[in-house]
Amino acid sequence: MEKKHSDALVFFGATGDLAYKQIFPSLQRLAKRGRLEGPVIGVAKAGWTLDQLKERAKDSVEKHGGIDEKGLKILLDKMKYVDGDYSDPETFRQVREALGDAKYPLHYLAIPPSLFGTVVQQLKKSGCADGARVVVEKPFGKDYETAVLLNDAIHEVFDEQDVYRIDHYLGKNAVQNLIFFRFANSIIEPIWNRQYVESVQITMSEQFGIQGRGGFYDGVGAVRDVVQNHLMQLLSNIAMEPPPCPDTEALRDERAKVLKSVHPIRPEDVVLGQFRGYHDEPGVKPHSNTETYVAMKVYVNSWRWRDVPFVIRTGKNLPITSTQIVARLRETPPVFSESVTPQNYIRFRLSPSPLIAIGASIKESGERLRGRMTELTVDEQNGGQDLLPYEELLDDAACGNPIWFAREDYVEMSWKLLDNVLSNPPEVRPYDPGSWGPAYANRLTEDIGGWVDPK
Ligand code: BG6
Repeated sequence: MEKKHSDALVFFGATGDLAYKQIFPSLQRLAKRGRLEGPVIGVAKAGWTLDQLKERAKDSVEKHGGIDEKGLKILLDKMKYVDGDYSDPETFRQVREALGDAKYPLHYLAIPPSLFGTVVQQLKKSGCADGARVVVEKPFGKDYETAVLLNDAIHEVFDEQDVYRIDHYLGKNAVQNLIFFRFANSIIEPIWNRQYVESVQITMSEQFGIQGRGGFYDGVGAVRDVVQNHLMQLLSNIAMEPPPCPDTEALRDERAKVLKSVHPIRPEDVVLGQFRGYHDEPGVKPHSNTETYVAMKVYVNSWRWRDVPFVIRTGKNLPITSTQIVARLRETPPVFSESVTPQNYIRFRLSPSPLIAIGASIKESGERLRGRMTELTVDEQNGGQDLLPYEELLDDAACGNPIWFAREDYVEMSWKLLDNVLSNPPEVRPYDPGSWGPAYANRLTEDIGGWVDPK
């Protein structure tokens, strides 16, 4: 059946932080490329006017990537605004009115998950859900149970095929390329398994703290903020099997299957940390135990990966901002009596700038037969032409393409995996801002050659 392109975008949470930092810049680019059909209707309860929202949009694009006169004009001309409470039917009557002739609206819920149920019910009652799709923001719940309840609440109104759970990591070209690079190059797959790979490290390091988001972050913490979504997606992309056919659901099946095969995480394989000074951040509770750092070791119990440790780590206020995946390959036996050959590895740097590197050993110059590590790199910057993650994902949702969105089973499984950690958390250990987190986390990599820090 031909999929209808959405002919309106209704955007809940239009006055919020995410809209300001990420959504308006993406909408400006979509507008410029002619990818926005119909009106763009902002909804919020802020006591604002349409002119205020337009000012905000202008300010947002100015601060985040710059104004594009053509794109901004198209966007501003399309904008409408409804101010009102999400539990008030009148708000949704106005949304319906603003939709005009639109028959296939895309509703984007950039609001806390506690409001998803109320909003979808109101969309239904007001007729706004007819022919519509819905995009929902992360965090999708706060544990397995709430995720299941949220799915139930959404499915009362929308079929799964019309639900798009957004994770902006999946909108990044470098993240999509993990799958592409693996399966489009015959040199990688033969070694991408337990015979050759000794361990895998996924590091998402951030040099900044919580950037004034204490009110949100303190109730969430690093596991819910980025592990359940972004880092689990990286794990799935790196560990999945090739889909049996080139089909969206087949690919989503394979991503979900990875999580299904992850062994329950053992408490001793998790280290939590909190940077010193966290309690001084606005919005943080005085004795908060919320983690700003997490490191964990997981095992993907599949035929391909059994017994290969995958260590995942993320933290705020670490030495640099970078996300990378490093697969260390098994050592070769020595060929010459005095040779020392550093271990091969494959490194995917996803940010700040994408890079793929193969760590290879070459002979040092001079008489001695010693190895020296060098990197064979692919460092392609395509002139800033990459789509912004939200630009790509909102366009995909408008086209009815769910390939880069989390499916119901996937999202529930990722929570299930982490439930043990969340309900039974280990001690939260302090660390100094600018350090690599609590030294206690070193024990997770003692038997695999230590952490590989992004540089
Ligand atoms: C967000 C988290 O989802 O992702 C933030 O809420 C985090 O805490 C951000 O900083 C990281 O995204 P990116 O694209 O900047 O790596």
